[in-house]
Amino acid sequence: MNKDKQLRQEVAEEIEKHRNLVKQDPYRLHYHLMPPVGLLNDPNGFIQMNGKYHLYYQWMPFKTGHGAKFWGHYSSKDLVNWKHEEIALTPSEWFEKNGCYSGSAIEHEDHFFVFYTGNVKNEQGERETYQCLAVSKDGIHYEKKGPVVTLPEGFTAHFRDPKVWKQNELFFMVVGAQTKDLKGTVVLLKSNDLFNWDYVGILAGGGKGKLGDFGYMFECPDLFKLNGKDILIFSPQGLEPKGMNYQNVYQAGYVVGQFNPKTGEYDHHLFEELDRGFDFYAPQTTVDNQGRRLLFAWMSVPDQNEQEHPTIEYKWIHNMTLPRELKLIDGKIHQTPVKELENLRDSEMISYSVKLNKESKELDGISGKTIELMLDRIEVVEGWMEISISDAGRIIYSSDQKIFTFERKSYVDGTTEKRQCMLEELKSLRIFIDTSSIEIFINNGRETFTSRFFPNPANQHISFSASKEVSFTVDKWNLGNI
Ligand code: FRU
Repeated sequence: MNKDKQLRQEVAEEIEKHRNLVKQDPYRLHYHLMPPVGLLNDPNGFIQMNGKYHLYYQWMPFKTGHGAKFWGHYSSKDLVNWKHEEIALTPSEWFEKNGCYSGSAIEHEDHFFVFYTGNVKNEQGERETYQCLAVSKDGIHYEKKGPVVTLPEGFTAHFRDPKVWKQNELFFMVVGAQTKDLKGTVVLLKSNDLFNWDYVGILAGGGKGKLGDFGYMFECPDLFKLNGKDILIFSPQGLEPKGMNYQNVYQAGYVVGQFNPKTGEYDHHLFEELDRGFDFYAPQTTVDNQGRRLLFAWMSVPDQNEQEHPTIEYKWIHNMTLPRELKLIDGKIHQTPVKELENLRDSEMISYSVKLNKESKELDGISGKTIELMLDRIEVVEGWMEISISDAGRIIYSSDQKIFTFERKSYVDGTTEKRQCMLEELKSLRIFIDTSSIEIFINNGRETFTSRFFPNPANQHISFSASKEVSFTVDKWNLGNI
């Protein structure tokens, strides 16, 4: 049996072996994408083709840690109902033997062209990197074409995560990289035919330009147009915490600028984090046939207490965020859950118009572990407002300090930990809870807080408190019974 076939068979056995255990986990997710077994990380090859969305993902099926990654595959017609497809790529060849690492997809001549990083560790334990191509007619069965880009001069072997797009009849590729003097950077390449690639130069970072000294590695770059601007998303490593910023082990964010496809130059502003929560990394976008710029991110951060996750005893770990639509408003990316997610809602909606005065309240029917909450017309005239979720999460807005806070009970040691951002005014909140995940969209997605948290499954209470006078409306739906 060839290596590819053998690996596929081993994965199928692994899924069968642990299927029931994964199902029994009270922290299993009900409407987020998670792996059937093992570890999921970055979204890869996100594309819509022939009316179907395809989301591939970094997958280690054999353990709840990192290793020689596969490309798992989910497909969907509506971004709500997903089908787990056959494995797209197994690490079966010499140029990817230590993992088919992250990459992207593009449609060309009615075929899927996916570009990914072949990760190789040689006998000396040194890393080698190959940017590889695989082609498919149906998005399910791929023919590997092997490496199409080798490591250019001036960079270490931390050179990965190609994202490809077409502009002005040319193809461009950005790659996350590290310069020889250990600066994080994004590299640009171009091609006429998707097979032959020329190195153009450094697009951003490298210890120079607007970003200055900005960490030792950039992962998962993505360059795209939004509202006439060219946005570069990337995940830098090696930033020190700064006030409320850069609190996670690694970050994920963007710069706004103008890309000149003729010269390959990119003129951009400063870096801004995309999300303010504990768990958000390696986002990837695509544009769909409605012209929407859609994003998925990995709901975790590498090396951030991954091995302490309570789900590990059930043989799985990590998940994707919900699909989000991006808009650029006043130079800032806003993220909202895609409209289709309204189809997750139960027919029954529970609504209240609430006024609180120095008190704490639970509202009949406003509870649950797979729910959406929509708070609107929020007025916190003075003092603070708070929403407590079970025994593990707390949302606090202080109108005096203009600070928004999300607190969670640490799954490592039970202490309280927090993430924060400045917020002039709190007007609306959309909150998605899915057993052990929470996504908070503030003021129509101007800020988002994305986190895993692990509430006691027997406690589904939600309470609302105010230090002085607070008013809001709240709607609640049960989600995920699809
Ligand atoms: C980001 C990342 C990528 C790499 C992949 C490996 O989380 O480290 O840079 O391609 O994960 O799974």
